Amino acid sequence: MPRCAVYPGTFDPITFGHVDVARRGLTLFDRIIIGVADNPAKSPLFDLETRVAMVQQSFTDETRVTVIAFNGLLVELAREQQATAILRGLRSASDFEYEFQMATMNRRLDASIETAFVMAREDYTFVSSRFIREISSMGGDITSLVPPPVIPHLHAKMQRA
Ligand code: COA
Repeated sequence: MPRCAVYPGTFDPITFGHVDVARRGLTLFDRIIIGVADNPAKSPLFDLETRVAMVQQSFTDETRVTVIAFNGLLVELAREQQATAILRGLRSASDFEYEFQMATMNRRLDASIETAFVMAREDYTFVSSRFIREISSMGGDITSLVPPPVIPHLHAKMQRA
């Protein structure tokens, strides 16, 4: 039975930090399903379709990664996809409190699904999608922080702003 994990997030947009977490996940699991959450409450900059496309375009070399959009409960997505785990990345101690709450709640919702954490690479501990959006909107250079397919999407948003 292949071991499969769901890696959820808003990915608004995907960063090299997220790519690093997914690739680390592939050392533990046979397949990773990246679940791109609709998350309207976060008012994402990019629509769901664009966020999914940017994630897909960042993993064209990796057949063990599948990307899907979702808007229900994460544990339901995991069950539908026959994943036995949820994968999350930890960048610093400040991530822990929120991740702990989310993992505990997900366990309460479905005790058969385990949450696995990997530590983000040191170079990416300071990266967040919010910083990427902000720096890009002010004309800063984000080329070392996001996968190349994300850059034209950010530029297109800047031109429209
Ligand atoms: N590298 C770079 N950035 C990272 C990162 C990493 N390794 N890990 C987290 N981040 C950033 C994200 O970019 C994001 O930044 P931003 O808020 O500045 O834009 C932030 O940390 C956290 O966002 P994200 O990883 O997208 O997760 P989230 O907090 O938005 O949670 C879900 C999203 C999808 C996991 C959660 O909302 C969910 O499970 N939704 C489904 C509904 C559900 O089941 N709810 C019950 C949950 S208990």
